[in-house]
Amino acid sequence: MILENPQLVLTLDEIEDGHVHWRSPSNIALIKYWGKHGQQLPQNPSVSFTLTNAFTETRLEYEAKSSDDLRPVALDFYFENELNPAFGAKTQLFLESLLPVFPFLGQLKWTVKTVNSFPHSAGIASSASAMSALALCLCSLEDRFFGTLGEGGDFDKKASTIARLGSGSACRSVFEHAAVWGKMAGIAGSSDEFAVPFGEELHPVFQGFHDDILLVSTGEKPVSSRAGHALMDGNPFAAPRYEQARNRMKQLIPALKSGDLPLFGKIIEDEALTLHALMMASDPSYLLLKPGSLAIIERVRNWRAETGHPVFFTIDAGPNIHLLYPEEIFTDVRGGLIEELKTFCEDGLTIADFVGEGPEEV
Ligand code: PMV
Repeated sequence: MILENPQLVLTLDEIEDGHVHWRSPSNIALIKYWGKHGQQLPQNPSVSFTLTNAFTETRLEYEAKSSDDLRPVALDFYFENELNPAFGAKTQLFLESLLPVFPFLGQLKWTVKTVNSFPHSAGIASSASAMSALALCLCSLEDRFFGTLGEGGDFDKKASTIARLGSGSACRSVFEHAAVWGKMAGIAGSSDEFAVPFGEELHPVFQGFHDDILLVSTGEKPVSSRAGHALMDGNPFAAPRYEQARNRMKQLIPALKSGDLPLFGKIIEDEALTLHALMMASDPSYLLLKPGSLAIIERVRNWRAETGHPVFFTIDAGPNIHLLYPEEIFTDVRGGLIEELKTFCEDGLTIADFVGEGPEEV
């Protein structure tokens, strides 16, 4: 997709003050993106469920830019209703990098106001929800000012591409229910540059599929995702891993279509453990799992064997465990298993989430 567009320049005396506002959810990868190249391009395709309750709301306000403001992009950033210069500086750099894509960003004064539905310190990756919300705001503005994107196709594609430039996995949050990111045979229109929707292909058992997030630790991670991706470059298992991810995609995609829960569960658990094995096999090695994470994994596997219920785990780049299960076993999981597992969570914290409808303009 060609992003640069020098024609997106405003005639300033026609612009009144205004704002755009989007709510966008986080997503949970089933096949993980871990390792990248070029400009945030993935080493392997990935697929995720789009969540609902873990979301970011971003409001982007604009007004005339004062002629003595010489910043290439003039911006104030409020996080959780407080001015946040650190987030402001990062966002400003990101928006400056987007000036060739959205030249109008240099012409106005911006105020970004962003809030998360979950506590900032919850240890939940907020970059996917935050970057997708910001990308959606930018594309809404382009369409409002220039009428260039319209409904559906190009709008979503561009929003997903811009979200990817902010944080790779964010490109998958643009779509309801599920999304595939990365070129893959058999997935029409798939690309390394943006995600494509996969929600319509999902078997009905996955609609509203539960994801209870067990917060084992809410502390800051010792190694960031950015550093983790970079360490894949020297990882001796990198090449076989990328091959493995492609093979697992080929197995998981049919399971998502047919509703084969045992196969789905096997693949996503193997993926989660592979992700953390790759971290342990990096140089230097590191560990994001905590004793509580391992205790939960063990208990989930035992509980599944005891009850025969299809409940499975996956894990992000952190110690927290996502429990995935269908609606039909909701009562048993919430009433029994989760209560038990809360003892391994920091202050008993959990977030009840589920596969949902994707971003919404507020
Ligand atoms: O998008 P990033 O750079 O925060 O990386 C996300 C990596 C994982 O969450 C571990 C996997 C994924 O595909 O979301």
